[in-house]
Amino acid sequence: MTLSASAPLPQPGILDIAPYTVGESKADGANAITKLSSNENPLGPSPAATDAVRAAAEHLAIYPSADHLALRQAIGDVHELDPAQIVCGAGSDEIISLLCQAYAGPGCEVLHTEHGFAMYPISARAAGATPVSVPERTRVADVDALLGAVTEATTMLFLANPNNPTGTILPGAEVARLAEELPKHVMLVLDGAYAEYVQDFDAGRALVDAHQNVVMTRTFSKIYGLGGLRVGWCYAPDAVVDVLHRIRGPFNVSAAGLLAAEAAVRDVSWTAHCCAENAHWRLWMTEKLRDMGLAVDDSHANFVLPRFAYPTQAQAADAALRAQGIIVRQVAGYGLPAFLRITIGDEVACRRVISILRDFLAGQGT
Ligand SMILES: Cc1ncc(COP(=O)(O)O)c(C=O)c1O
Repeated sequence: MTLSASAPLPQPGILDIAPYTVGESKADGANAITKLSSNENPLGPSPAATDAVRAAAEHLAIYPSADHLALRQAIGDVHELDPAQIVCGAGSDEIISLLCQAYAGPGCEVLHTEHGFAMYPISARAAGATPVSVPERTRVADVDALLGAVTEATTMLFLANPNNPTGTILPGAEVARLAEELPKHVMLVLDGAYAEYVQDFDAGRALVDAHQNVVMTRTFSKIYGLGGLRVGWCYAPDAVVDVLHRIRGPFNVSAAGLLAAEAAVRDVSWTAHCCAENAHWRLWMTEKLRDMGLAVDDSHANFVLPRFAYPTQAQAADAALRAQGIIVRQVAGYGLPAFLRITIGDEVACRRVISILRDFLAGQGT
């Protein structure tokens, strides 16, 4: 310890963290903005969720439920899960952070995939652990590489499936092989933030039931359209649930968030409608982008990731969209400098993106 420090010092590793870059929401000079930079649902939440927030506004002085029982029961009913194995958090970001706090620390290694979600290394470092990036195979997680990267020091492995920002999915059999072959002291966190966009997909629920070291995280920020309220959850083995309840704040999810999420998860027809709309416009966008000569992997989420000829062309395309008030996401920080991640917006937004990019590429002589 440095006794002579003239000011309090953060724990080792904290100053190595580059703060998370959020999707931008402003563009200089543009009046009307279309934000396609944070994978939000363009259709918004279920009307029942909005009504729940209005009702919650009448009781703002009262602390929320500390056991989240009504929300856990609603999630359990809809997803056929035991509510006792569900823990709710302020977004799945909080769940990721709590898991790292509990299962990683100084001397521990936390594995994540090469183009994995940025909060994994941030949360690992915040806990004092060392994040380890594991190469993917053409933007898809590589199970052999992940297993090969495990050392005695490894305590956690994060895998988003589908992944952000690539939109790619690792087939179920490969995820099952990873869970099977991973040493039992390593926690496998299957991040299902985009799970609802995939048909007939359990996002790892059966693997949680089969293995004591597998946890599935989920969010209300994507298809449920409640990013502004910060609600996420995980489904985990009993021992992990017990640990998370010991370290989470008792009132970590707001009353409005709990009520809105409960209404949202029960409105399965709204969720199905959002899923169908997203699938329709995602396919349309993918085809139009490919028609322009841009390479696009099949996306299983609510965004697409076109590849431009070179990084400066991606930046120029971003600027062309921004000049028309459309904000997408540069992903150089994810090791993908020639790509742009574009959230699937509503029909108007999708058509505008394609028209602007078509004009942009025509101007480039492509
Ligand atoms: C893969 C993945 N996991 C987790 C999150 C965090 O979501 P939230 O904290 O809003 O639940 C995101 C948000 O973009 C994400 O893309």
